[in-house]
Amino acid sequence: MLIRILGAAAGGGYPQWNCHCHGCETARDSGVTLTQSSIAVQSADGSWFLINASPDVRQQIEVMRAAGCFNSHSGNRSLPFAGILLTDAEIDHTTGLILLRESTAPLNIYSTTTVKQALTSGYPLFSTLKNYCDVKWSPLTPGEVTKLTTDIEVEAFALSNKAPKYMESKEAVWGIGLTIRDIITNSTLTYAPGVGSINIDLQKRFENSNCIFIDGTFWTDDELPSLGIGARTAQAMGHLPLSGDNGSLSQLKSISTLCKTILIHINNTNPILIPHSPERQTVESMGVEVGYDGLTFKL
Ligand code: MLT
Ligand code: MN
Ligand code: ZN
Repeated sequence: MLIRILGAAAGGGYPQWNCHCHGCETARDSGVTLTQSSIAVQSADGSWFLINASPDVRQQIEVMRAAGCFNSHSGNRSLPFAGILLTDAEIDHTTGLILLRESTAPLNIYSTTTVKQALTSGYPLFSTLKNYCDVKWSPLTPGEVTKLTTDIEVEAFALSNKAPKYMESKEAVWGIGLTIRDIITNSTLTYAPGVGSINIDLQKRFENSNCIFIDGTFWTDDELPSLGIGARTAQAMGHLPLSGDNGSLSQLKSISTLCKTILIHINNTNPILIPHSPERQTVESMGVEVGYDGLTFKL
């Protein structure tokens, strides 16, 4: 399968329109920017699957087109994705759905029932789309394998109980990760953009993957409060920070020697985005890669 990062930044993007942190100003000065969190996977039969639909999806599709990802332009206005998989109901991972309303065919969306309900009530994108292109929904259930094409299957796994801010509920599994397996090449990608903690099961899953895309949102737990630009800690937002004794990097040390490890969903305040920063050097010296828009490789 072919794997591509469409957007490596967390919600808000890099730079974020109203932010003047060091990272955002560096992005403006250098012109090196990142769009919001999304990846895509292509199976051997040529079909692409979009994983998370960011508010930047329109630009991301045009960049894919310019890069030659879509080999035919059929005369109609259908969607260049055979399906869209959602890992949660967060605004940065779902808002792109409404931008795809011009599709001539219903959007083929895979998500948990919890996400479906959130997008039908709290943030009613599915309901709104009914009178546009409509939605054809298929379930993703933690612990179950879903076939996407003859050669690609996806296994969902529970990752986080953090509800989107617009929803009240706290008990449900709100965020899932996806292990995507190409059964012809026998290779697996595990995509985990919202990791609150890493237990033994998750560690095993990572180690058994050929490649992992993992939550690189924050460097420290108090990143936003310490910059005076937010009250919530990384952990309160459901994101395990990278640094510190219990941070994700300490656990990725052994994992990154076993599989290709790429950080994604990186917040604009995270110093790993600053070229040559000590934090960036720490990450790279461990063999962990910092994801960027357009990064494409075969597995
Ligand atoms: C997250 O990743 O935690 C959310 O997208 C944050 C948000 O509400 O923007
Ligand atoms: Mn997010
Ligand atoms: Zn910023």
